[in-house]
Amino acid sequence: MKEKKVIWISGASTGIGKASALKFIENEWQVAASARNLDNLKVLKKEAEDKYGFGNIDIYICDTRDKNEVEKTVVKIEKKFGHIDIAMLNAGTASPYSDEFNLDYYNHVVTTNILGNLNCINSVHKRFKNRKKGHIAIVSSMTGYRGLPTASAYTLTKAALINLSESLFFDLKKFGVKVSVINPGFIKTPLTDKNTFPMPFLKTKEYAAKKIYDGLMKNKFEIIFPLQWTIIMKILRLLPYNLYFYLVSKYTGL
Ligand SMILES: NC(=O)c1ccc[n+]([C@@H]2O[C@H](COP(=O)([O-])OP(=O)(O)OC[C@H]3O[C@@H](n4cnc5c(N)ncnc54)[C@H](OP(=O)(O)O)[C@@H]3O)[C@@H](O)[C@H]2O)c1
Repeated sequence: MKEKKVIWISGASTGIGKASALKFIENEWQVAASARNLDNLKVLKKEAEDKYGFGNIDIYICDTRDKNEVEKTVVKIEKKFGHIDIAMLNAGTASPYSDEFNLDYYNHVVTTNILGNLNCINSVHKRFKNRKKGHIAIVSSMTGYRGLPTASAYTLTKAALINLSESLFFDLKKFGVKVSVINPGFIKTPLTDKNTFPMPFLKTKEYAAKKIYDGLMKNKFEIIFPLQWTIIMKILRLLPYNLYFYLVSKYTGL
């Protein structure tokens, strides 16, 4: 019998992470799902077992901001499943906008979105290098393409993750380790449910999960969706500053 592939998804208790967990199980992968909220993880496990039977998912409490907890989680996943084929580093957060410069917001978002992911990479990259095999998929956002109004804490972390993914692509290639960056547009999840502004081209988490699954199966470096936002952001990314500032101010009124 063919050995099943294994994906570890951080931040799998809700939203894109949860939908991706179910998508991979549907496609006969084994899923190690981690997050901080055990109740939500249990709901995911039950949903997966009800739909796809037993033995395809295990859940782990893991705060990615804690380096030791991440390492222990990876040890547990390897003990259970033998190895990890894909580490989908999806745990992330955002903070509300404030006209005041709020250092606590920045600390919170930077610690979760950047340092949390570095903790995960720290634990998987050495194992992947030793096996000369493995795939690190970092969930960033197309907001990381350029600085956007009212989102400085969030976009700075996502820009950092895009650059990090590009650098790791080069550095890990020679060890047989693949790297991808996942750049979604607006997806309806608990994270975006808090937004009070309009979110054009909003898509479901199931849509995102399918795009992510298909992109990872094709070993794409950048997995970006939906198409409408991709076109807009790719053009905005190329514009000189004066034109970029003019257009974004005009359309956002900010
Ligand atoms: N929704 C969008 O429009 C959109 C667009 C672009 C990119 N993204 C990115 O997609 C990823 C998933 O977001 P989402 O929209 O699905 O939001 P979500 O439903 O709020 O999911 C965030 C996940 O991250 C986990 N998490 C947060 N802090 C954590 C920590 N310190 N340690 C471990 N897990 C943590 C949360 O679980 P616990 O609270 O249980 O730990 C939750 O499972 C994020 O990186 C986000 O930036 C989202």
